Amino acid sequence: MSESKVMTRRALLVGVGAAGGAGAMFAAMGALGLAPDAQEKDFVPPQPSDFSLRGRAAAKVVVLGAGVAGLTCAYELGKAGYDCTVLEAADRVGGRNLTLRRGDRLPETGGETQTAEFEEGTYFNAGPGRIAQWMVAMDYCRELGVPIETFVNNNASAYVYTGGMKAPARARTARADLYGYVAELLAKATHAGALNRRLTKDDRERLAEFLRRFGDLGPDLTYGGSTRRGFETYPGVTGGVPAGTPPSLSDVLSAGTGRALTMDFGYEQAMPMFQPVGGMDAIVTALAGAVGRDRIRTGARVTGVKNLPDGVEVAYQGGTLRADYCVATLPPHLLARLPHNLGAPITAALRTPVPVAAGKIGLEYGRRWWEIDDRIYGGITETDLDITHIWYPSHGYHSRSGLVVGYYNTEANAELYGGLPHRDRRNRALTQGKKIHGDKYRAELRSSVSIAWQRQPHIEGAWVYWPSHQGAFALLQRPAGRVYFAGDWLTHLIAWQAGAMESARKAVTELHRRVLQTTS
Ligand code: ALA
Repeated sequence: MSESKVMTRRALLVGVGAAGGAGAMFAAMGALGLAPDAQEKDFVPPQPSDFSLRGRAAAKVVVLGAGVAGLTCAYELGKAGYDCTVLEAADRVGGRNLTLRRGDRLPETGGETQTAEFEEGTYFNAGPGRIAQWMVAMDYCRELGVPIETFVNNNASAYVYTGGMKAPARARTARADLYGYVAELLAKATHAGALNRRLTKDDRERLAEFLRRFGDLGPDLTYGGSTRRGFETYPGVTGGVPAGTPPSLSDVLSAGTGRALTMDFGYEQAMPMFQPVGGMDAIVTALAGAVGRDRIRTGARVTGVKNLPDGVEVAYQGGTLRADYCVATLPPHLLARLPHNLGAPITAALRTPVPVAAGKIGLEYGRRWWEIDDRIYGGITETDLDITHIWYPSHGYHSRSGLVVGYYNTEANAELYGGLPHRDRRNRALTQGKKIHGDKYRAELRSSVSIAWQRQPHIEGAWVYWPSHQGAFALLQRPAGRVYFAGDWLTHLIAWQAGAMESARKAVTELHRRVLQTTS
């Protein structure tokens, strides 16, 4: 979907396959009738002085879910002394922010439990893996002292491989050819007068000047290949051996590299991107530490939520909690199944967003062949094979071993892989990746772990999309009695931690304002 359509009412289904790493369906809810929300950008955390100035007291809040949204709520409310308890069904915090290391166990609904057998020091970000500069996740990293490093989201040396290609090509080569021919076509059409009615003579010259640069065209406006395609042997003392002559325009077009070569064009995926040093879960570790581990109850699956005249009552495995307010941050499809007295319209609204399947596999190798043999330092190979992407690590360069993400796929491909036992997922991923990287891809594998988010207990989906709004999105922005909702699923940043954080901030702001205004 084109970015210009993101903010239109028609764009409720976003095919981020065109622009994003996920290749996924996202919700774009720009026109759901929500007023532009200045408050979320000008967020002011609740402070203890807010109460002393107004003669009020902090309230007791129960937060459902210790994912990024829930932890952010408890963290921000905690700044003003709110008495927060976070209930988490899993035996760990973080939700979809999951980094797997040696010895970690990964159970799956209706399936096996895998155990990561990685070497010490190897990690696999099984959930979120990248952060854009403008996202609020960066502010939390700064505030919490989580060190970050560059995440290479686009690497000219990585490969592009589609069904329309005879062999994988370096991204730089495919890009040079596609841009070159597109520039040639437009430059020649302009030169032939096709745009005379649209452009002045001066503008035609300016356009031609740009196109020459964009496509690295010759003086006759023809694309005949260029050093932008790269080299078989790079220049040194000698001039090197260029990568050869370009395929025909027809071959370049039928290769179908458009998605692969534009995947970082959007505002969410543009370089530079970032990741926490040592694993994405550094964010949840820091948040949970700041909240206080004693306030977080893991293994505490919520079994019911009730609005009372003067508070809320939450039943969970292990007890019942009374509080003044509740913030529910579980995925909407799980909240919809929870017994509650919030009313049928709330249940219907919670049922509206549809969970999306996504999966990843971490392939650990004892040798960083992608650096040593292929000269790829971070970045992503894009393919229309069912693995969709291969991610190379953006850290640990030149160390002995490392982990490659052998697939990151969504929807039908994720369902396909997710339906297999791990062994078969791995074998299929290796068969596909071998088409790009050759025998070493299978032969040198040390260990692997795969995740199917739709099969993760207490989560049951990678993210959601909103097939229609019908007011559901707007309804859930508001509290149902004393129960507030928060999560990336309630934002225009679905499938980003920043979405969870922005939504948490909104719930915190509104809850705090209400507490300050409450007379009794
Ligand atoms: N935000 C997710 C990604 O970066 C979907 O792939």
